[in-house]
Formats: sequence, C-alpha cells, structure tokens
Amino acid sequence: MSDSEKLLDTIPRALYFDNEDRFFILDQTKLPTDEMIEEQKDVEQVYDSIYQLKVRGAPAIGIAGAYGLVISLKNSLDLEIESFLELVYKNAQYLNSSRPTAVNLSWALNRLSKIAQDFPKDKTAKELYDVLKHEAILIHKSDIETCRLIGEHGAKLIREGDGVLTLCNAGALATGGIGTALAPMYVAWSKGKRFSAYSSETRPLLQGARITCWELNKFGVDTTVIADSVSSYLMKLGRVDMIVVGADRVANNGDTANKIGTSSLAINAKFYGVPFYIACPYSTIDTNSKSGTDIVVEERGKDELIYIKGQQIAPKNIKVCNPAFDVTDNSLISGFITEKGVIRPPYNFSK
Ligand code: MRU
Repeated sequence: MSDSEKLLDTIPRALYFDNEDRFFILDQTKLPTDEMIEEQKDVEQVYDSIYQLKVRGAPAIGIAGAYGLVISLKNSLDLEIESFLELVYKNAQYLNSSRPTAVNLSWALNRLSKIAQDFPKDKTAKELYDVLKHEAILIHKSDIETCRLIGEHGAKLIREGDGVLTLCNAGALATGGIGTALAPMYVAWSKGKRFSAYSSETRPLLQGARITCWELNKFGVDTTVIADSVSSYLMKLGRVDMIVVGADRVANNGDTANKIGTSSLAINAKFYGVPFYIACPYSTIDTNSKSGTDIVVEERGKDELIYIKGQQIAPKNIKVCNPAFDVTDNSLISGFITEKGVIRPPYNFSK
C-alpha cells in the first residue's frame, strides 16, 4: 500500500457488516457533535434508519438495503425454501419503499431478489442466505473500488490552488468507500495537491455543514462552509474553479437528480463559466429513465423546514414545500466522473 493509499484508508466509514453477520451504521443525524455507531437489528429499524437519513447518500443506502435484507433473514433459516423466498421478496419490497429517488437502493435490492428468484428450489434457506450475504458483501466491496476509481479520474481535474465547491454530502459517508464527489478531493489532497474546498451547507438538513465539513476536516482538506445562497457570489468573485456534486439518479440522457439546490448551482455555474461535474458510479445511472421527467423526486415532511434541532423557526401552520432533490438539465453538466473515466456530452448511457 502506498502512503497516499494508507492515508485514504483513514477516512471514516458510514457502515459495516461484521463476521458475526451483524450490521452497523454511523448515525449521521448526530454528526458532527456525536459519533454514534448503531447496530441494525431488524428490517423495520433499517427502513427507519434510511428514511430518517441516519444512513444516507445513494450508494450507501444501496449497500444498507442489501445488508438490511440479509439481517432481516438471519433468524428465519429454518423456513422451507418457498416461505423463505416470500420473506426475501416482502422485505426487499418494504426496504425499497423507504426512499424513492436514489436508484442504488432498488438496484441493490433487485440484484439480491433476482439471485433469490433464480436459486435452485431444492436447496435450503441457509444456502440461499449465504449466497445473498456474499452478494451484499460484494456490492459493498465493489463500491469501495468504484469510489477509488472515481477519485483517481476526478483528481486529474483538480489543479493546484483551485477552489472546488460541493453541495450536500457525496463523501465517504454517502458510500461504502471514499465517496463520489469528495473522492477526487481526497485523492488529489493525498497526492500533495493543495486547493480550497467550499462546502455549501445544504438546507434543510445541513448535510454539507454537518457531514461534508466533518469528513473533509477529519482528513485535513482546507475547507470553508458557506450558506447555500453564497455560491453564486463566490463564482462571481472568481473563487470557484470547479463544482463537483454527487447524484441520486441519472437518466439515460444525462438529466440528473441530486440534492435540492443542485440545479440552481449548475445554472449559476453555466452563467459564470465554471465547469460543473457530477461524480457517480454506473449503478446510479438508470437507463430506464429516458429523461429527468421520469424521475420520482422525494417530498419530505414539513417539520424539516419548521424546526431546526427541535427549535421552531417558522409558524407551525405555514404551508411547506420540501422536495429533497431536484433535476439538473444535462445541458448544464460538463461531465460525469465515473469509475470508467470522465464521460463528456452528448450523453446517451444505453449506447
Ligand atoms: O438526502 P440525502 O442526504 O440522502 O441526499 C444525498 C445526495 O443528494 C447525494 O449527493 C447523492 O446521494 C450522492 S451520494 C454519493
């Protein structure tokens, strides 16, 4: 292992599965003040952890869905194979309904369900369980490698002295590895390149301020938090050379669903001539969605706007509009940083 690889190994992890088949997550709702690891004991708990954003970020919820399905099965190994299969489908469907926009969740759960469907019916529940567990671990391991590759490809786009802006958290805590949008920053930094990271705070749940700043800071990247409304002014001042964010679902034509606010960042970036990149694995590309209009955007509860950490900040009876994501038009995207390299327009991922 090279020194920079060893350094990358120090980045915190969102989740892990141990060799006693126990599944743990870092509760991200408590960051940055508390670093609480929580064991996930049943399918309802995993559903709630995904819904409440204790575990979040498209690749991470895909992996959490896969491990969540595995732990939901481990006390039912004495079932007949048909009943066990019913349980696999039921729990996969239930977990899949926890959040609708990130395609990685259904991608991972469909992958396990397909294995179950094709599994020989003369084998036992335990044998199927072992295969599903192996596949969940594989999904996790391959995400680690995917993030590393995204980091290597993306790091080449960062120049010494650049200002690199990101929104929300598409870092280690949103994946199984070193992140997607933050991976290029980690790789560039670990190789000695020095630049300034700007983390947009990301109202309403503040993933940028709470989580991105926390992990970039832990790694020692020079990081500045900004209110979301500051980004276009920074671009006007010439302090942003590149924007890189993650994705929850990319349609076949490159239209991209990501955290609310991404689209306005991209529009401003176009105005000021700042390159705007999406960093994501191929598992986030949904060729079944022809364009952004096919993507379901999650609408979240009103309390996320009316309260901050239990403190009321708006009238309780006010109407609330709280979409968790928006869709950025493909024409605003300079490139997709993927594990296969940087994909440039025109985009047609099914080709
Ligand atoms: O609501 P969240 O925090 O799950 O939203 C996360 C994002 O929008 C990320 O940018 C996206 O999932 C990519 S994570 C590598």
